[in-house]
Amino acid sequence: MGIAFESLASDIAGRSGKLTVGKKSIKTPALLPVINPHLPLVTPNEMRAMGVGALITNAYIFSQSRQFRERALDEGLHRVLDYDGIIMTDSGSFQLSVYGEVSITNTETLAFQRDIGSDIWVPLDIPTSPGSDRTTTERELAITMQRLREAKEVFGSDAPLAGPIQGGIFDDLRERAGRDVTALGFSFCPIGAVVPLMEAYRYRDLVSVVMAAKKTLSPSACVHLFGAGHPSMFALATAMGCDLFDSAAYALYAKDGRYLTAHGSYRINELTDLPCACAVCRSHTAEELRSDPDRERLLALHNLHVTLAEISRIRQAIADGTLWELVDERCRSHPQLLSGYRSLLDRAPELAPYDAVSKRRFFYRGDESCRRTEVLRYQENLSRIPVGKNVLVAFDGGERDAFDTTLFFKPPFGPYPRELKETFPIGPSEIPEWDDAMVRQGCRGVRVLMGSHPGSRFTVVCGQRWVPVVREILGDIRVIHDAD
Ligand code: GUN
Ligand code: ZN
Repeated sequence: MGIAFESLASDIAGRSGKLTVGKKSIKTPALLPVINPHLPLVTPNEMRAMGVGALITNAYIFSQSRQFRERALDEGLHRVLDYDGIIMTDSGSFQLSVYGEVSITNTETLAFQRDIGSDIWVPLDIPTSPGSDRTTTERELAITMQRLREAKEVFGSDAPLAGPIQGGIFDDLRERAGRDVTALGFSFCPIGAVVPLMEAYRYRDLVSVVMAAKKTLSPSACVHLFGAGHPSMFALATAMGCDLFDSAAYALYAKDGRYLTAHGSYRINELTDLPCACAVCRSHTAEELRSDPDRERLLALHNLHVTLAEISRIRQAIADGTLWELVDERCRSHPQLLSGYRSLLDRAPELAPYDAVSKRRFFYRGDESCRRTEVLRYQENLSRIPVGKNVLVAFDGGERDAFDTTLFFKPPFGPYPRELKETFPIGPSEIPEWDDAMVRQGCRGVRVLMGSHPGSRFTVVCGQRWVPVVREILGDIRVIHDAD
């Protein structure tokens, strides 16, 4: 048994890989749709046909259900749900966070999850509310850790156990949780209690919490973002290294008459058209969908379709090395997502070591692109470029005889020698006409080079237009410009 995760390709801190549980595997990133056995709007069988290789359901609901408890124990969960993929079960912690108590203990829920044949079991962690003070958060985290320890002791180190990371909004507690869960030997780690952050659009706090947990988790751990269901934030979460999402959103939104897209949701009553290529949207007009007696189920099918399509798009972006472009695109759909994206860019130094060394391309998408990991990494390596005593940085691409070394200039990266002209990121980067932000960033690259070669004399040749920017970043460097 046991749970194994293998990363096969990466971009930023995001990974595309393979999660194996027993004999079953799925590609990651992956979405685990939430199944409520009492009202399956879309059946597990239909999900299988849509390419869903893993789903999540609530063991607590099964354990309390007159209808399902005995059947699940007798026939097993896979039979009851008529699904042969990976089934993860949650413990009842979510009910705990909503109702304040549950009538089951940690070892009871785990034994139940084992006995119904679940593939991934979740202990009874405590999802501490982001509003809790430090003392409460610390006390609840200690209880969660005690339960994870107990889970390993009672069920053994090979049991397919998830080790949830709690710690509220305190970064150091999330870091501690990541460290302790790793030390206990968990390799499947959901980050918990983030639903209230996402519901309140607190994406900046979400970035902070996830980055803190990731800092101390093993890079080989599979990371699940508990309860993340809106497709507009999957790219951002993936960029931080989240591998799995579980979502009831497709069903909850459908119930509420809402139509999901990768960049936000619409009330079905507001739609004049259905901007989607799924079977539901191609066989109904907006008016027909609105008035269909089966509307809730049709909306759920559509919502699931766009959610799964976004996961596929993310996997493709990782393969192409274009995850930053996708994050940039998605995070412009809501100001709070933009805020989360900017705080992720603030952390580029933490992300850069994970980022792929070479990518197929780099598309400049505005000021934010200046702070991407590729720019940072390029500039960190600039000090290794050998230069002579008299160095020219030629913005216009022209060489001049009077210098020992001529370097060219590509914003937002900075100076480059002829040999790097075709290599990543200089060659494959596409930029529009130069703007102040990118030239300023490129000049910071020149400054790094000057700092590492204090014995050399640097001159910049550039158009008049760029002199103020060059002066701003490079001070009294010698500048030759067109008017000379
Ligand atoms: N579902 C959403 N958040 C959580 C969490 O923090 N813990 C568990 N067990 N389930 C969740
Ligand atoms: Zn659709």
